[in-house]
Amino acid sequence: MGSLDGKIAVVTGAGSGIGRGAARAFVAEGATVGLLDRNAAAIEEAAHQLGQRAYPLVCDVTDEASVASAFATVRERHGRLDVLATYAAVQLVGEDAPVHELDSEVWTRTHDVNLRGVFLCCKHGVRVMLASGDGGSVINCGSPTGLTMCGAGWHAYAASKAGVMALTRVMAADYARHKIRVNGIVPGTIETTLTRTLVDDPEIRAQLTALHPIGRIGTPEDMAGIAVFLASDASKFATGAHFHVDGGISVR
Ligand SMILES: NC(=O)c1ccc[n+]([C@@H]2O[C@H](COP(=O)([O-])OP(=O)(O)OC[C@H]3O[C@@H](n4cnc5c(N)ncnc54)[C@H](O)[C@@H]3O)[C@@H](O)[C@H]2O)c1
Repeated sequence: MGSLDGKIAVVTGAGSGIGRGAARAFVAEGATVGLLDRNAAAIEEAAHQLGQRAYPLVCDVTDEASVASAFATVRERHGRLDVLATYAAVQLVGEDAPVHELDSEVWTRTHDVNLRGVFLCCKHGVRVMLASGDGGSVINCGSPTGLTMCGAGWHAYAASKAGVMALTRVMAADYARHKIRVNGIVPGTIETTLTRTLVDDPEIRAQLTALHPIGRIGTPEDMAGIAVFLASDASKFATGAHFHVDGGISVR
């Protein structure tokens, strides 16, 4: 028996990294998972790997018609949504910068995916949860950069993540009466496509490792357990919280 047996989930950013790891863990725990990503090839491959309880939802989270259509598909298939986990994001390494040097187009592109994309997925995902009347669990992915100094240099990204974390709290307050819990996950540095250019540079990798008292940077597998916990009924009294799974970066 899995802790998510029978649950219907959507994971955004499921084509890669932390989202893909969460989707894999949800399926292993018994959930049926819509793999939402703009990278069609990646989610088709993931669906193939994960088997019959995973299916691709090709969607650009910055496009409201695309998001509405993906959640309409979920509603038609299942009539409900129990878990929405939002991981789709970009970090424009090499373009993001301190505000006095930051191109406003880079700000807009970052916020379009990272904050507006989370808003749109929450908007259409919560509508499905409200329509079923059964409640649900929303899990939004924040970042230490939204809270602490470790976002230095990445002003657009850090501000977008701070926005996601504020949205998480206010949603938790307003949807609790509908039995919809809303929590955030705060990862440390995790080795994924997003961080590839950073962790592949030995000097930057050493600097990033030194930020983590636990002595290493993380993997998508390190982030899967917290997502399963928040998706499951084991966390039924948790809402409006941010769960740090960050190798100790926040207490260094
Ligand atoms: N990797 C880290 O060190 C780290 C640290 C803190 C927070 N995070 C957060 O974790 C989450 C997952 O990051 P990751 O490292 O796994 O990244 P990743 O780049 O490996 O995966 C991100 C996924 O989002 C998808 N995506 C991007 N834009 C999209 C769009 N417009 N529509 C639909 N899908 C889109 C990409 O195709 C990709 O599959 C993000 O929210 C990120 O900000 C990551």
